[in-house]
Amino acid sequence: MSDPKLIYVCEGGDCTERGSGDIHDKLKEMLLAKDPEEAVARVRRYPCFGGCECGINVTVWPDRHFYSEVKEGDLPEIMDAVTGAGAPVARLQGKVKPDVEEMVWTLLDSPY
Ligand code: FES
Repeated sequence: MSDPKLIYVCEGGDCTERGSGDIHDKLKEMLLAKDPEEAVARVRRYPCFGGCECGINVTVWPDRHFYSEVKEGDLPEIMDAVTGAGAPVARLQGKVKPDVEEMVWTLLDSPY
């Protein structure tokens, strides 16, 4: 079995002001309801992705899904995409600059 995916929720200032703490808690609650052992995925906080104007930002690694302007109503679809029950949520993707997104994947891919 492969390692669990990591769902990162930004906890930078702008995303926090928009309510990312609640998004983190709700995602964690939804995930644990489906995956109590966290075998498929784990929810983590992330300091800041550098795409602050597009928050709330949530990324899924290693799937490389970068979701922006995330609202609570989007979470079931994000969770379905994480678990393989649904497709990536296209309407929430492609909002941050490509170089910002690439920098984030480079950092997350790094073993350090
Ligand atoms: S505050 Fe969330 S990307 Fe910077």
